[in-house]
Amino acid sequence: MSKWKHKHILDLASFSLEDYSSVMELSHRFRNQPLKGVRKLPALQGRLVSTLFFEPSTRTRSSFELAAKNLSADVQSFTPSTSSISKGESLIDTALTYVAMGADILIVRHNCANVPEQLANELDKTKTNTSILNAGDGLHSHPSQGLLDLYTLANHFKPEQPLPIALSGKRIVIVGDILHSRVARSNLWALTGCGADVILCGPSSLLPSCFSEFVSSPPPGISNDPVVNRGQISIKRDLDEALCDADAVMTLRLQKERMHENLITDLRRYHYEYGLTHERLKSCGKKIPVLHPGPANRGVEISSSLLEDRSICLIEEQVKNGISVRMAILYLVATGKGLTSK
Ligand code: CP
Repeated sequence: MSKWKHKHILDLASFSLEDYSSVMELSHRFRNQPLKGVRKLPALQGRLVSTLFFEPSTRTRSSFELAAKNLSADVQSFTPSTSSISKGESLIDTALTYVAMGADILIVRHNCANVPEQLANELDKTKTNTSILNAGDGLHSHPSQGLLDLYTLANHFKPEQPLPIALSGKRIVIVGDILHSRVARSNLWALTGCGADVILCGPSSLLPSCFSEFVSSPPPGISNDPVVNRGQISIKRDLDEALCDADAVMTLRLQKERMHENLITDLRRYHYEYGLTHERLKSCGKKIPVLHPGPANRGVEISSSLLEDRSICLIEEQVKNGISVRMAILYLVATGKGLTSK
């Protein structure tokens, strides 16, 4: 396993092939570790992990907390509505308060893009050794979801060795509300970083054409793309056409809470054009796996029966893998301290 160099995990644009390999290799080890009975590994004994979620979550928060407990870390969680944020305390003062209590890792979710990065920059100025893990920021990034989706796909294609090579040359369709999806953005970096080609599909109101250039240059703050040979991104407006060539499909929720205008007026029509069903998959002639990051809108982006069909839909696998992938991230960040790049 190569040396881990990320003090914080803020997005996946800075991840190299070796970084993906390290996370996937360790996730696989943790996934196959018999935690029942003994339950906990002592790897993070004496470390404090604090979850600061300023936006609702079911999966990410609970699985980060479970992952930290499985590694014997102490876990502390923060609820904004009952905190001193309601008295006007700032985000950075809140973060510094948790650092003063001894937090080694702060896991941060916020509805504004770049809040985790801003906190990381402020903490670094104070020379604290505390790491920030981005648990989802606005429309920007959701790195742990991107990594667990990557692992789930690799484990589906090559269960004996779920490493980046398992994704190389695969064609993955991502369909739905790409515009408002930080999951899609993280998956674009992760999948193309492992050599997969991504076919984005959706109406132009939810998938502007500029997304085909999404990984063509690194975002501000990253001078060079750490991946030499990325996969390609293409756009198709017709889902049946996109599915014909696909090795897997990921569907995304319509994120109404992030839409400033009513971009989709007819949900039945949306389901007809972009919804995943058994019938639609059958008509493309292949049995391909379906991923969904959750939470799902049944009957909108996916039919209830397909969502519940565990022989095709990997949503439960994604949730399970989320624990071992987050154990891997926590372990790598906690034990790679002192190596300061982001
Ligand atoms: N996929 C995801 O981020 O789910 P939660 O919002 O429930 O954490």
